[in-house]
Amino acid sequence: MGWAMYSGQIVRLRALEMTDLANIMKGWNNFEMRRFLASMLPMSENAEREWLDRATKFDPWRDGNMVLAIENKKTSEFLGTTGLHSISRQDRRAEFGIAIHDPKNFGKGYGTDATRVMLWVGFHVLGLNAIYLHALAHNSRALHVYEKNHFKRVGVLRQALFVEGEFRDTVIMDILKSDFMKEYPPGSKIGEP
Ligand SMILES: CC(C)(COP(=O)(O)OP(=O)(O)OC[C@H]1O[C@@H](n2cnc3c(N)ncnc32)[C@H](O)[C@@H]1OP(=O)(O)O)[C@@H](O)C(=O)NCCC(=O)NCCS
Repeated sequence: MGWAMYSGQIVRLRALEMTDLANIMKGWNNFEMRRFLASMLPMSENAEREWLDRATKFDPWRDGNMVLAIENKKTSEFLGTTGLHSISRQDRRAEFGIAIHDPKNFGKGYGTDATRVMLWVGFHVLGLNAIYLHALAHNSRALHVYEKNHFKRVGVLRQALFVEGEFRDTVIMDILKSDFMKEYPPGSKIGEP
């Protein structure tokens, strides 16, 4: 895949394409990854194609969603997706999400880098004021990555999600534009193209 708008140190974020359907089908129905997301239902190729058809055309302000593909900067391997959801024009705020699809790619720094680039997009491109997220309280890898990226824990929703037979707590975290801009002021980049 050629063009990419936003570079980190080791990943690039680029537009999703219909040609990512095969990549997504390869990784999405994977228990080890999905057990950390809210939905554990298997996704059919048909449903995934329909979602992708919408996602490739998302307009952040019209649809309240922006979902980008994460790829390895060196090899262009598709690694997963990251998104801003419930984007509010009035409140200039959005909910962050990310998934590295293949567990063999966990722990290699991709998630940290992609999160940082997506925050850069949220604050520098969309002009958001706050970005928040919900994560399972036992997803310590994710919480660590978010804290490294200066998200702050602001609360816990008790027994918010039913996963693997139990009601589990979720942690709410957020980061403000003013926090992010201290480290990445206007004119700064996360990585070279
Ligand atoms: C969460 C996720 C995005 C993180 O991305 P990643 O590429 O695996 O993470 P990174 O390699 O950038 O960083 C992992 C960090 O967590 C640490 N870590 C790994 N396992 C951990 C654990 N069980 N507990 C605490 N920290 C852990 C690593 O040491 C590393 O920190 P360091 O750089 O300070 O050493 C990715 O693992 C993922 O998509 N997981 C499945 C879906 C998911 O959980 N999505 C988020 C839902 S809120």
